[in-house]
Order: sequence, then structure tokens, then C-alpha cells
Amino acid sequence: GNYTDYLRPRVHFSPPRYFMNDPNGMHRDPSGTWHIYYQYNPLTPVAGNQHWGHATSKDLYTWENQKIAVWPPNNYTYVFSGSAVIDSNNTSGFFPDQDNGVVAVYTLAEYPGGEAGIQYQAIAYSRDDGYTFEAYDRNPVLNINSTQFRDPYVIWHEPSRHWVMVIAYAAEYVIGVYTSPDLKEWTHASNFTKHGYLGTQYECPNLLQMPMKGGDPVWFLVISLNPGGPRGGSISQYFVGDFNGTHFEPFDDATRFTDFGKDNYAAQFFHNVPANEPQIALGWASNWQYTQLVPTGLLEHGQFRSAMTVPREHYIANVSARGYDLISGIHNVSAIIDEELAFNSSLGNGTILAYFGDVPSGAFYLEANITNLTSTLQGTANFTISSSVSGEYISGGINAAGSPGIWVDRGHIRGFDNPYFTDKFSEEGVLAPNSTTWSLSLLYDNSILEMFLNGAQQAGTVTFFPERRLDTLAIYVGGIPESAGSSVAVWSLKDTWA
Ligand code: FRU
Repeated sequence: GNYTDYLRPRVHFSPPRYFMNDPNGMHRDPSGTWHIYYQYNPLTPVAGNQHWGHATSKDLYTWENQKIAVWPPNNYTYVFSGSAVIDSNNTSGFFPDQDNGVVAVYTLAEYPGGEAGIQYQAIAYSRDDGYTFEAYDRNPVLNINSTQFRDPYVIWHEPSRHWVMVIAYAAEYVIGVYTSPDLKEWTHASNFTKHGYLGTQYECPNLLQMPMKGGDPVWFLVISLNPGGPRGGSISQYFVGDFNGTHFEPFDDATRFTDFGKDNYAAQFFHNVPANEPQIALGWASNWQYTQLVPTGLLEHGQFRSAMTVPREHYIANVSARGYDLISGIHNVSAIIDEELAFNSSLGNGTILAYFGDVPSGAFYLEANITNLTSTLQGTANFTISSSVSGEYISGGINAAGSPGIWVDRGHIRGFDNPYFTDKFSEEGVLAPNSTTWSLSLLYDNSILEMFLNGAQQAGTVTFFPERRLDTLAIYVGGIPESAGSSVAVWSLKDTWA
């Protein structure tokens, strides 16, 4: 893979070449290595012919591409999304001599003669830490003769001492819960049916325990839906509740989305992060509405399509009036910080400019902190990131007092034109009325921008495809009283692919 094109993210994972979609099989192995697998077409820059691509990392930023890990069993079957677990007690019997065996659980989707056929669940085991897999010789392990039954996510439920699978009956808006003693025999336990926003299909559920600020850990169910998201195409929603080993019971039935942008789909949470620690996930930073058309797939850009988000760490907290908010911030950004590009700890109302055209990675991280506001919501912090050559720009920011709240606009970027590639995304009413501080953080990486209110409270992910490399950042703080303070810092980011 060639990771030098100006549209290539340099602190995000993207495939060496051709087409990637959902993250799969994410886990941390006993030696501490993080494994990501992903939906991968190794032949062309559009979806199809899915395998599980594979990459590993020690820090979730510096990735080493590995060989394809899971292959289709024949030429009319695709390997769709799924998960991987470490079977340390050898419940499956695949690992008589080891406690670090890995079992991948995934969907096989048949396309006989190119027509969509049945989708059923299969397993494969790895005796070498997840680098190579052998398919179970009695696959499938779960087949209900459906053409819309996919994306198994499996966890070990210690209190009931069994495996739990959540899986989408995609067209029926059902998440099924199955249990198993050995990953081979699966028993249906319950259905979670028609909750939240329905869209057109449910996909890629994850079920796991999540820390709750100021309380006991809660259970978290995230469901992706596509097409038919409220902003068009793909989006993910989540539910917070209880899980007893067979049934998930949400605390309420409110609809909550994971992101206010349009490019964060099918996130998967890593296994083997302790339940009392923030839970780490990567999302697929794209959207089915236009992912197969974006210009990174052209020969001149190296024919890669899609990247993952940076690693995000998550917990639940009551910050909005509705409560049970997903807090999703960047995991350990200090691992990728390189040099200070700009810093002003007493900016007040004012502007900071930073030229980053000579930063080798083309990527930077920004934090703006507004403090000591007098009483109510005050102030704005808006940015533009532009090309001094072409004049195109992406802009956004936070408008604490009013509308549009936290916002981003990619409409003045010129390298990709498509009716579904809509411009403006925002979230309103995002600050507590009595807050006297707020902050904006932003991670910019060539063709992906991730922005956050208060570190992690509202996350927005957008891709953008400029004609020329952007090189100039301007950030404007306004509307804060004299007694308030503002500080802005900008750092270049390392090139983790160099
Ligand atoms: C979600 C999805 C999954 C499926 C995979 C196929 O993006 O449609 O439901 O398993 O992609 O690549």
C-alpha cells in the first residue's frame, strides 16, 4: 500500500488498497496487541467479494497490515461482518493445548449466480493469535434459511457462564439474542424488536458492559441502520439498559445516535478491555450512500476506499436533560502529538492562524477551552481549514448560546460532488445551561475530521475530499465577556504510516 497521497489519512487506519467497510473481530490479545479485521474487497475499490482483512497495532494508531485472515469457502460466498473471541477455557474444544485460541464468528452470504442468497453463521479458529484461521469443518453453526440474518457479535457472559450472540434479522428490525456453551451450538434466547429509529435495516449490533459515570456499569446495545438514516444513508443508534444473560431491557425507549456527522458507521467495540474502563471502538468512517464513489478510489489517489475513525473511548454519563448520554472521546491522543503549531493561553476574543502546509502528516489536533463564563451559555469558537492554493475550505465550530450549536460544513470543498454527499451537520442544545466552561477539540487528518464538544460529549465525524491539500487553519473565538478566558492550542500529528 502507498500511504502518501494527500487524501490518505495518516493517523487513521485505512486499507493498503481497494475497498474496506465494517470493522470486524476486534479484540486485544493476551500479549496486548490490538487486532482489527475488516470487511475487505482485495480486488477492486468497490464493495463485493468480501474477506476479512487484518491489521495489528500496539497503540491503536500505528498499524501493521497483515495477510487476509478469513477467506470465503467458495467462489459464490462472501465473508460478511462478525466478531472474534478468545476462548481461554477451550469451551470450543479447538484449543487443547493453549489458552489464547481465537474463534471468529461471522456471516457467510451466498451469491449463487450473482443473486443474493441465504446468510448463515460460521466459525473459524486460530491457534496462532489471530493471524491465520481454519474454518470449522461443520459450518454453518446457525442457519435459519434467511437472506437477511447477519453480523454476529459474541461476548462471554460470566454470570451465566455462556457465550452470548447478538445478531441482526436485518429486514425485520430485530436483534436476536442467542446463547451457546461452546460457540458451536446456538440457542435462541430473546428478541429485541423495533426499538428507536428503524431506517430500512438493522445491522451490526454490539452488546457490552460500559462504565456509567457516578454509578455501576450499565449494558449498552448499539445498532447500526442502513439505508434510511435521518441524515441519509448509514447511522448508528444506541440503547442503555440491563442484560441478564438472555434478555436486554432498555431503561427507556429514547432514540440516541452515536455521532452528529454522517461518516461513522458500524463501529465495533474491542473485546478484553476491562468492563470498568472506558470501552474502545473504531467506526467505519464512511456512508453507504457514497462510499463507492469517493475520489480516493481513483488510480491517481492509490485506489483505497474508506478509513476507520481514530480509536474512541466510551462511557455513559447523564449530561443532557434526557440522560444516558454516550461519551465518546479520542483515546490517548498524546500518543500521536508531534509539535506545537500554535498556542495562546489568553486569547480572549480573537483569532489564531496556523499554517500546516509543511507538516509531513498533513494532520493536526486542536483544543480550544473557554473558561470563567459569567452565567449562561456564551461564546463561539469557529474554525476554517482552507487551501491557500485553491481557496476551498471546511468550516465548523461551537456556538454555545444558540443555533447551530456544534456544527460543521464541508460544502466549500470541491473534490467530490454527489447529491448524497450533503454539507452541513450540527447538534443543538448541547450545553448544560449553567455551565461556565466549554471546549472544542478537533482532529484533522487530510480527508477526515473528527470534532468533539467538551472532549467527548458530542462527537461529529465527517469525510471531505479537497482538490488540493488544505494547509491553513484559522480559529476565531468571539462573544465571551472580559472576565472569561480562552486558550487555544494546535499540535501537528505524527505520520503513523511513515
Ligand atoms: C454493514 C454491512 C453488514 C454486512 C457487511 C457486508 O455495513 O452491510 O450488514 O455484514 O456490511 O460487507
